[in-house]
Amino acid sequence: MTIDASHVRLDPAIVSLMPPGTHLEDGRLVIGGRLASELADEFGTPALVIDEPALRARARRYAEGLGARWANSQVVWASKSLPCTGIYRLMGEEGLGVDVAGGGELVMALAGGVDPARLVLHGNAKTDRELAMALEAGVGTVVIDNLDDVARLERLVTAEQGVLIRVIPDVATATHDAIATGHQNSKFGLAVPEARELIARLRGSDRLRLDGLHAHIGSQILDVEPFARAVEAVAALGEFDVYDLGGGLGARYTYDDHPPSIESYLDTITDAARRFLPGHARLLIEPGRSMIAEAGVTLYRVVSVKRGATRTFVAVDGGMGDNLEVSLYGQRFEATMADRVGGGDPFTVVGRHCESGDQLIESVALRAPAVGDVLVVAATGAYCLTMANNYNGALRPPIVFVGNGDARLVLRRETYEDLLRRDA
Ligand code: LLP
Repeated sequence: MTIDASHVRLDPAIVSLMPPGTHLEDGRLVIGGRLASELADEFGTPALVIDEPALRARARRYAEGLGARWANSQVVWASKSLPCTGIYRLMGEEGLGVDVAGGGELVMALAGGVDPARLVLHGNAKTDRELAMALEAGVGTVVIDNLDDVARLERLVTAEQGVLIRVIPDVATATHDAIATGHQNSKFGLAVPEARELIARLRGSDRLRLDGLHAHIGSQILDVEPFARAVEAVAALGEFDVYDLGGGLGARYTYDDHPPSIESYLDTITDAARRFLPGHARLLIEPGRSMIAEAGVTLYRVVSVKRGATRTFVAVDGGMGDNLEVSLYGQRFEATMADRVGGGDPFTVVGRHCESGDQLIESVALRAPAVGDVLVVAATGAYCLTMANNYNGALRPPIVFVGNGDARLVLRRETYEDLLRRDA
């Protein structure tokens, strides 16, 4: 599509929450060079649209940024943020490692052609089967969460296996309780005394090669300081060849969110590494949300506009079936009508599911929403499709890659046949 520059406008704030390059053409939203409402016509709704060049640029920004600050390093994408074969393939092509939590993510990573040596297996309840799959695939690193992992691995390994121990760094974070993981009593990892015992034990193991330590303090963290404290905490456990510092950098969902930049986050962790960690160490980081949230938007179609006692509801054809962030964590999202961007009156955007908690946005200004119009919710790239479900028989949405005026399906929408396929 050629865009007449005289019609291109960038001003409404919502555009700043969308992938770079998103703009308006005659007041209509254009993402990846495609009109959002035309994408809805072509691929149906709800649909998760990912700006592929924006995602690749972000993957490079992370990899180059970390490499420039700490040469012996690897960015490992936390694939739980958007597990889909096409995204695994993209991350592998960009040279990133991939964190897989369990057998399903492992299968998709392998299908996406990711080099198994660059896979990091996580999980606080890895089964025999999942560990056997990982060992057979040649996964480079297994992160030990508990002593049962050790017992299983010692039983299953047939060759030397690189492992890290996940340590609870006891660093508190200002995030939602459900996504904080660095505190004492977290269900993930071992507290420092138990980690010390295991370190001593694994140093005598001939099959499990203890490469180093892992720590992940939580998600949607909007301040860099806790990341530095986590580095200091793991450093207290001794010198190792590898330190995996997890993920956690927050994304920008709303106009008021001001997450640290990737560069500021990388400065913080590498400065802390220079102070506290051995210079020869290999540094790994596992960004998920901050890699992918802002590369994605969700397209919905308005099904009903109804006046309530004190507010007017805009009901769309998705909801908590494709976005649990709101009901689980109270995450605020911003939205716009695809073809009338900016301005308008306050509406409550609700989903199609059978509960009152199925509300996507409590109050957002929309310009004249009407039945059949396309509504676009910003910054839905991370964890929305991840936790999509079939509540009320909803069909899980497709993923559409856009970029430079092209659009292609990388994950098709579920079908009603899919819902019946598992019937025994
Ligand atoms: N590494 C490990 C071991 C993790 O558990 C996680 C996220 C990450 C890395 C990536 O963290 P990120 O950079 O994305 O913050 N279901 C929640 C998100 C849970 C995050 C779980 N672990 C949500 O929908 O917000």
